[in-house]
Amino acid sequence: MFDPILKIIEIAESTQDEARKLALSGSPAGTSIVAIVQTEGRGRCGSKWFSPPGKNLAMSVILRPKMEPRDAPMLGMLFSIAVADILDKLCHPFRTSVKWPNDVLVQDKKIAGILSEGQITNGCVDFVVLGLGLNLNSLEEDFPSNLTESLTSCSILTGLTFNLREVGMSILIRLRELTGRFEIEGAGFVPRLWQRRWLHKDQRICRDGVEGTAIGVDDDGALLVETPDGSWVKISSGEVCLQRPCPEKKVFNRDLPCIEKS
Ligand code: BTN
Repeated sequence: MFDPILKIIEIAESTQDEARKLALSGSPAGTSIVAIVQTEGRGRCGSKWFSPPGKNLAMSVILRPKMEPRDAPMLGMLFSIAVADILDKLCHPFRTSVKWPNDVLVQDKKIAGILSEGQITNGCVDFVVLGLGLNLNSLEEDFPSNLTESLTSCSILTGLTFNLREVGMSILIRLRELTGRFEIEGAGFVPRLWQRRWLHKDQRICRDGVEGTAIGVDDDGALLVETPDGSWVKISSGEVCLQRPCPEKKVFNRDLPCIEKS
């Protein structure tokens, strides 16, 4: 369990770096940094994360979990569940879903992305920094024109404007509940809970030449894919694209194009 502490700063290159500095100087779990303006936001798989100044929630949270390093990726999944639970309330009646490994979607459009970074020493997790980019108050004209089809925001969905601190705190409180459960029960419940929001089961996916049907998520959070010859492949990291948009080279992860089948 942790006490949520939310610090808002005017500008940061990346809130991930700010949170990492705080973690290295001993800040407790639950310490979070929100930047009104983020100039060098990072996304997953080496992509850049663009956020229009002052509009969206760019937040990084420090966690100090007592867990095996192999379980650390589950925290990203846990965070996506916390975010989805809060978005269900903010964007009611829209239902929030997830895309493997931890994108958050509404109406099949990305509304939030999560980046998990951390430090391990001698096989022990020192800390994890969970970064959240949530499209909160952005409008369609704020998105790069090639991404308007694949992105959405809370304001686009509801016509309302949201307070960064209030939304950040709600997410932290839900994350605290879920990490508390994690400490008591272990990681087992995470893939089960996550899959309740997963709409891509049985859909065709492709990644790095692997093509097949997404059949589930394993106990360790890896994506299980059944290939055309009937064998199962486990995908543990990286980005997958749904077969449906793949031939048109649809971008899912901001500037990271999905992998195309030749
Ligand atoms: C993704 O690629 O989907 C993950 C995006 C994560 C972006 C957030 S914004 C706050 C935090 N600071 C960063 O530099 N990145 C994360």
